[in-house]
Amino acid sequence: MKNKIVEGFSKFSKEEKTEWLLNTYTQKEENIKEIVKKYLNSYEELQKLHDEFAENTITNFYLPFSVAPNFLINGQVYAIPMAIEESSVVAAASKAAKFWLDKGGFKTTILGTKKTGHVHFTFKGNKEKLRLFFENHLKDKLFLESIHITKNMQSRGGGILAIDLIDKTAELENYFQIHAQFDTINAMGANFINSCLEQFAKTFKKEIAKETQFSEEEKNSFSIIMCILSNYTPECMVRAEVSCSVEVLNANARGLNEEYVHKFIQAIKIAEIEPYRAATHNKGIMNGVDSVVIATGNDFRAVEASAHAYACKDGKYASLTHCEVENGIFRFWLDLPLAVGTVGGLTKLHPLVKVALKILGDPSATKLMEIIAVAGLAQNFGAINAMITTGIQQGHMKMHLFNILLELKATEEEKIKMVDFFKTETVSYNKVIEILSGLRNNATKQL
Ligand code: MEV
Repeated sequence: MKNKIVEGFSKFSKEEKTEWLLNTYTQKEENIKEIVKKYLNSYEELQKLHDEFAENTITNFYLPFSVAPNFLINGQVYAIPMAIEESSVVAAASKAAKFWLDKGGFKTTILGTKKTGHVHFTFKGNKEKLRLFFENHLKDKLFLESIHITKNMQSRGGGILAIDLIDKTAELENYFQIHAQFDTINAMGANFINSCLEQFAKTFKKEIAKETQFSEEEKNSFSIIMCILSNYTPECMVRAEVSCSVEVLNANARGLNEEYVHKFIQAIKIAEIEPYRAATHNKGIMNGVDSVVIATGNDFRAVEASAHAYACKDGKYASLTHCEVENGIFRFWLDLPLAVGTVGGLTKLHPLVKVALKILGDPSATKLMEIIAVAGLAQNFGAINAMITTGIQQGHMKMHLFNILLELKATEEEKIKMVDFFKTETVSYNKVIEILSGLRNNATKQL
């Protein structure tokens, strides 16, 4: 065990890090070294840039960068960049985009852009004195003393929207919050919010120490626990929706006819009441959401955290999409809490992120929220549509077949023959090997 522990690893050069790893963890396997090397970018500048995104970088980890075209969103056509490794996701998005193209496309609404952060603190003393101190004195000071952080954001139309004191002592002894709301315009805003919150904490400490109406005991009981933005963003929300007549939708339903819309609605209702299904249902939505979030250089962990917290807002994990039929019109929508940015962070640094944002017409953060929500809704539509008609495996297995063929190093000619064979057969790893071996044996015999 001892020889697996290292001191000063971060100070090693990249080569030394790789060498140490190989020697310590991989029995010095040369092919592993080769793989690590192959994934390095031959453009030195680019490699340096990637090395600097994180610490202890030894190579790169690539994701396919794809595009799903034909998305009609609020009357404008987009090709949506998606970074994802899972087969079928981009194909399903493109198919859903095409399906809704001649049915009015996707419509979106921004339901809010407020983000939240907290100074979490404890205080054991007179609550009314604390409230009055906050309202009559501290609140203005918090705004005033954070001006050096907020003035640029304010000139762009954003900044701190509200600062409130929240008494949480009923849930946790002596626990209070400064609950602040922000508009960070085109930035995701994590740095801005956290800087404001840490400034609030400094001002708070200084002002409470000076305040004569608190006893020494009360002052000593005051303690800042932590300052941090919240990744739960129920007030930074976007809605994406599609609608068309039930007749039109049923007519597209490969033989299911009237039953199609009924099954679709049922599938959504199941995800609304059954957490086991809701988790998978929402995972499918996040296939679309995350892939655009990643391609545009945003933080997919933050987006995931917010979405799943929101999915629990009524006390039970549930579907993020909903549907209804009213007066013969089918309406299907996704409400998604989403905090993303189109300036700052990776957006300026990562060349492919710049490409993704260019493809999308250099959108504002709200426009990007709309596009991301549409990708999520399209993905969910694609998944439900497949599951209630052909089953999900048909599409998946086709992509699975391509992956197996890739692994077995099939030639282009072999691929064409194999795809043709599996049009009517169920794909399994063994069956692919059997048929491909047959093809190869025949080809050898013919020589
Ligand atoms: C697979 O990545 C996503 C699905 O399971 C989503 C769903 O079941 O709705 C197909």
